[in-house]
Amino acid sequence: MRSSSALAVTLCILASICRLQTAVEATFLKKTVQITHYTHETRGGPNGTFLLAAGTPQQDLGVGAAFGSFVVYDNVMREGASPTSQMIGRIAGTAVGVVKPSSTPDNNTRVQIVMQHIFGEASQYNGSTIDVVGIFFFNPPWEMRVPGATGKLRGYTGYGLCQPISQTTGAPPLLLVYRWDFYLTKTEDF
Ligand SMILES: *[C@@H]1O[C@H](CO)[C@@H](O)[C@H](O)[C@H]1NC(C)=O
Ligand SMILES: *[C@@H]1O[C@H](CO)[C@@H](O)[C@H](O)[C@H]1NC(C)=O
Ligand SMILES: *[C@@H]1O[C@H](CO)[C@@H](O)[C@H](O)[C@H]1NC(C)=O
Repeated sequence: MRSSSALAVTLCILASICRLQTAVEATFLKKTVQITHYTHETRGGPNGTFLLAAGTPQQDLGVGAAFGSFVVYDNVMREGASPTSQMIGRIAGTAVGVVKPSSTPDNNTRVQIVMQHIFGEASQYNGSTIDVVGIFFFNPPWEMRVPGATGKLRGYTGYGLCQPISQTTGAPPLLLVYRWDFYLTKTEDF
């Protein structure tokens, strides 16, 4: 008798918790957005967008940054992978070689990234930005966190996947192209 009434009370509590959860879920709306664009990075020449600013370059920066290198960039954001595709913004930030090659199984420096994707006039997100942080691990795609965004993307967080697409060979300037795929969500009051 005692135990069955205790069971009834427990079921009742569980049922009300379930009802409460349903009510809470119903008052929020989860929005998702997927954004894809390409980084065009020019290394060298008068119009270079990538600069080894300080540090200890122990290897060719055409290949990658070395442990201790501090790199700044102000790269071009384009709709597509072709150098003639529409420019839709800039991607500016820093990269620092933070993990020694000898500390890694693949003998490659890990590079810590702090960057902002800045959408311009030709983009549907004109005036908006996406912040990106993380450490590049080999192999691609590299997964980076998006702690926040502004403008039309205010309130969105999530992650971005970056993948190298192409790299010119021969004499500088080198052009490196990367594809970015962002998966962002925002939860707001219904
Ligand atoms: C650098 O950019 C300027 C302005 O867009 C352009 O006129 C010039 O041809 C470029 N130089 C090189 C080497 O690409
Ligand atoms: C890692 O790099 C060092 C220095 O260039 C080299 O001596 C060593 O053989 C490399 N190790 C591997 C596993 O590639
Ligand atoms: C783009 O955004 C800027 C800054 O927010 C604004 O001044 C400009 O009018 C916008 N242009 C278009 C075409 O939306």
